[in-house]
Amino acid sequence: MMCEFVSSAVDLKHRSSCIQCSKVCGFILLLVFITASYMLSSERKTLLFALYPLEEDLSEDALRDVVRSIAAKVRFRARRVPDVSELIRLEEHMFSVVPQHFLPEVKNPCWFEELRGNVSTDPYGSNLFGRSFRQIQLIFEQLSGSFRQRLTRHDGKLQRLRCLPYFYIIGQPKCGTTDLYERLRLHPDVRLTLPKEPHWWTRKRLGIIRSGERPHTRFPLDHYLDLFDPVAFQVLQSLLGNSSSSIITGEASASTMWDNNGWLYLHGNSTGAEPPWLVQDFIGALQPEARFIAVLRDPVERLYSDYLYFGTSNKSALDFHQKVCESLRMFEGCLRDAGLRACVYNGTLNHAMSVRLQVGLYVVFLLDWLSVFSRDQLLVLRLEDHASNPALSMNRIFRFLRLGALSDHRQRQISKRPASNTRRASDRDLGPMRPVTRELLTVFYSPFNQKLAEVLRDETFTWDTHITSRLREPVDHS
Ligand SMILES: *[C@@H]1O[C@H](CO)[C@@H](O)[C@H](O)[C@H]1NC(C)=O
Ligand SMILES: *[C@@H]1O[C@H](CO)[C@@H](O)[C@H](O)[C@H]1NC(C)=O
Ligand SMILES: *[C@@H]1O[C@H](CO)[C@@H](O)[C@H](O)[C@H]1NC(C)=O
Ligand SMILES: *[C@@H]1O[C@H](CO)[C@@H](O)[C@H](O)[C@H]1NC(C)=O
Ligand SMILES: *[C@@H]1O[C@H](CO)[C@@H](O)[C@H](O)[C@H]1NC(C)=O
Repeated sequence: MMCEFVSSAVDLKHRSSCIQCSKVCGFILLLVFITASYMLSSERKTLLFALYPLEEDLSEDALRDVVRSIAAKVRFRARRVPDVSELIRLEEHMFSVVPQHFLPEVKNPCWFEELRGNVSTDPYGSNLFGRSFRQIQLIFEQLSGSFRQRLTRHDGKLQRLRCLPYFYIIGQPKCGTTDLYERLRLHPDVRLTLPKEPHWWTRKRLGIIRSGERPHTRFPLDHYLDLFDPVAFQVLQSLLGNSSSSIITGEASASTMWDNNGWLYLHGNSTGAEPPWLVQDFIGALQPEARFIAVLRDPVERLYSDYLYFGTSNKSALDFHQKVCESLRMFEGCLRDAGLRACVYNGTLNHAMSVRLQVGLYVVFLLDWLSVFSRDQLLVLRLEDHASNPALSMNRIFRFLRLGALSDHRQRQISKRPASNTRRASDRDLGPMRPVTRELLTVFYSPFNQKLAEVLRDETFTWDTHITSRLREPVDHS
């Protein structure tokens, strides 16, 4: 979602009456709770939290304690990077398809693959992307017609050209990835997949069609590669014309950066508390030179935008507030027993939280990407900067992708393009989030933003958190 910067005007109307009431109720509940806590053993206490996460309508002060308690447990620890042999054992087919070296005369990672199967049968007939998505099926129908022209003969055997993306736009949701995708497509040397988000690495590879669903049939790598066949054909034409190819392709699944929720299903839960293998391990083993773009945005705004976009019924600032509080409590509950990474990657917890708090913990994911790739393979942008000067951020992207200079005409076309994926009119009417929600979320995300700014050596990634002095006061409930 582009440039939807919700104003922070204080919404007094909604606040006063609710807050008075909730403070009183909250106080009584708190007393009951504290008494109960003293009466129960520490084991029972966690049970009480686990059983009544929704009913506990605690006061704002109690919620501030929850957020403070989270902040006190934030530790950034290095992960164990798995050995390639482990990855090969898990994804044997994947590693048998992709060679260790790509064609040197082609900028994009491409290779010749011997044609398997019968030339007369439809090469895309069994593709699960085609079977699941009508838009892709139509593209495959066109490709089938020209399939024979796209084959070459080598040592008496038929072969086809295969390609993987040169770059990935990896995240985050509601941070402007659609706008980047649309502008990038206007560059003459860039080809992007249709649709924008195949979600293969994070979901389809594991058989998950839609986020949150249990896995069905796993989509093989070959089906993913088929999505890049239109590019492969253009690259092949350059090669046949004895010229090198500077065309590059990419995809923009906004789940790639963070979503490893599927690992539990695939590898069982006997492997310990943290996912031992992440999406980036597999990408890194197959294409160590790949490049990645992440667009981030003030995580507080991101969460509200995410809620407005993905929420179904009963959307309101109050409903958002309640969902935020409930999710903060669940997250805090998890941190009592487990480490930060274990909670951030905990699929069960992520599905249970009614707002996707974890998606905004950018630095946790970023550090894990940096455990596999070097800093110069990742370009991290802020939506706020992109929205205020798209020409500047697009030029940064073009340089990062080593793309040639553009004509003035193209440059104007790319920067003048209207912003994509702006907020729906019906959601705009819901107004801004409540100031107290903003305050809680700001404090919640603050230590993560601080660390992000430190890792990226750029203060703007703190999103200038104005933490209210009240929140810094020590807790005194006992
Ligand atoms: C290839 O497929 C065609 C049509 O589906 C069939 O007629 C032919 O016998 C097949 N050839 C082989 C070698 O299987
Ligand atoms: C490409 O180069 C090869 C050998 O270098 C030559 O045999 C062939 O004729 C050339 N093809 C074209 C289309 O120029
Ligand atoms: C995790 O393990 C427990 C106990 O062995 C089992 O009941 C549960 O279904 C497992 N969960 C997943 C997602 O595999
Ligand atoms: C993941 O979250 C669930 C639900 O909050 C919790 O029961 C489980 O213990 C957590 N697992 C880990 C490894 O933290
Ligand atoms: C929506 O709100 C109405 C009235 O407040 C309530 O009865 C209903 O259960 C809510 N629906 C959902 C899905 O939360």
